[in-house]
Amino acid sequence: MAAGKLMHAVQYGSYGGGPAGLKHVEVLIPSPKADEVLLKVEAVSINPIDWKLQKGMFRPLLPWKFPFVPFEAATDVAGEVVAVGSGVKNFKAGDKVVSILNPMSGGGLAEFCVAKGSLTVPKPPELSPVEAAGMPSGTLTAHVALTRSGVKLDGSGPQKNVLVTAASGGVGHYAVQLAKLGYAHVTATCGARNLELVKSLGADEVLDYKMPDGAALRSPSGRKYDAVIHCTTGIPWSTFEPNLSENGKVIDLTPGVSTMMIFALKKLTCSKKRIVPLLHSPKGETLEYLVKLVKDGKLKTVIDSTYPLSKAEDAWAKSIDGHATGKIIVEP
Ligand SMILES: NC(=O)c1ccc[n+]([C@@H]2O[C@H](COP(=O)([O-])OP(=O)(O)OC[C@H]3O[C@@H](n4cnc5c(N)ncnc54)[C@H](OP(=O)(O)O)[C@@H]3O)[C@@H](O)[C@H]2O)c1
Repeated sequence: MAAGKLMHAVQYGSYGGGPAGLKHVEVLIPSPKADEVLLKVEAVSINPIDWKLQKGMFRPLLPWKFPFVPFEAATDVAGEVVAVGSGVKNFKAGDKVVSILNPMSGGGLAEFCVAKGSLTVPKPPELSPVEAAGMPSGTLTAHVALTRSGVKLDGSGPQKNVLVTAASGGVGHYAVQLAKLGYAHVTATCGARNLELVKSLGADEVLDYKMPDGAALRSPSGRKYDAVIHCTTGIPWSTFEPNLSENGKVIDLTPGVSTMMIFALKKLTCSKKRIVPLLHSPKGETLEYLVKLVKDGKLKTVIDSTYPLSKAEDAWAKSIDGHATGKIIVEP
C-alpha cells in the first residue's frame, strides 16, 4: 500500500559531524520482509548509542553502508502497524505497538520504519506513544543488568544492596524502579537537581555525584553493594572495589578497554568481586513483560524532552550533551 511512496527521514552520510551531520531527506517507504511489520512511527527515542555509532565508535562493525537512517542497537519505536510481512501472524494493520528495530533494517527517525515481528509487542492504550517509545532499550538494559547481577525482580531472592549510578538517566531511572520491584535496597547517584526525582522513583538513599561521598560511591547507611548497575562512565575499579560486598558485581553498561582487562583479570584470579561488561540481545517476551509493568503502573518513563522530527538535530545534541533526565523523544 505504501510501496513506491516517499517519506521524510533523517540520515547521516558519513561518520562524524554530530547534530550538523544529520540530513533531512525524502526516501522510499521501506517494504516489510516476511518476518517484519511496517510501522507508521508515532514516537522514537534517542539513545547514546545513536550518536556513538555516528561518531564511529563501533567502526568497522556498523554502519557499513551510507547514507544511513540513524539507528541504535535496539532502536525504540512506538507506532501503528501499516502492513505485515507474509510470515507475521500476530499483528494486523491498525494495531498500536512498541518495537525495537533491527539495526540491519534502518532506523526510526523517519515517518515509517520496518520492525521484526518477534521484537514487536502490543502497546496498551494506557501508554502514550511517547511513554512507550521511551522504554524498550532502557527497560530491557536495566532488566538484564539487574537479573545478571543476581537480583530477582519478583522479590523471591534474598534482599540485595544495589547501587545505580546515573540514576537520573535513560537506563538508570528504570533500574532504580525495577530494583525496588525486586525488593532491593537501592542507593543511587545523580546530580543535585535530580535528588528528589530519584527518591520519588523509590531509591532508599541518593548521593550527589559531585559531592565527596557521591564521588566515592559511599552508602550513607554504610552498606556494601552486592550489585552495581553502572550507567555512567569514568569511575575506576579502585572506587568500586572498597564499596562491594564479598561477592559484589559491577555490571558495566559502557565497557571500555579497562573494564575488559579487569574483567579478564578478576576471572583469571577467581576473584569474587567482579566487573562484568554488559552485552545482550533484546527479547520480545521480556519487552512484553516490561510493557505490562508500565501498564499496571509499576514502572514509569521519565521524559526529558520531546522534539518534532524537523528538530531531530536538537534531540541528538541533547543526548550528546549527556545531561538528560530520563528519555529524549522525537515525534514525526
Ligand atoms: N550495554 C548496553 O546494552 C547499553 C544499553 C543502553 C545504554 N547503554 C549505555 O549506558 C550508558 C547510560 O545510558 P543512558 O541512556 O542512561 O544515558 P543518559 O540518559 O544520557 O544519562 C544522562 C544522565 O547521567 C547523569 N550523569 C552523568 N554523569 C554522571 C555521574 N558521574 N554520576 C551520576 N550521574 C551522572 C546525568 O546527570 P546530570 O545531568 O546531573 O549530570 C544525566 O541525568 C550510556 O553510556 C549508554 O551508551 C548501554
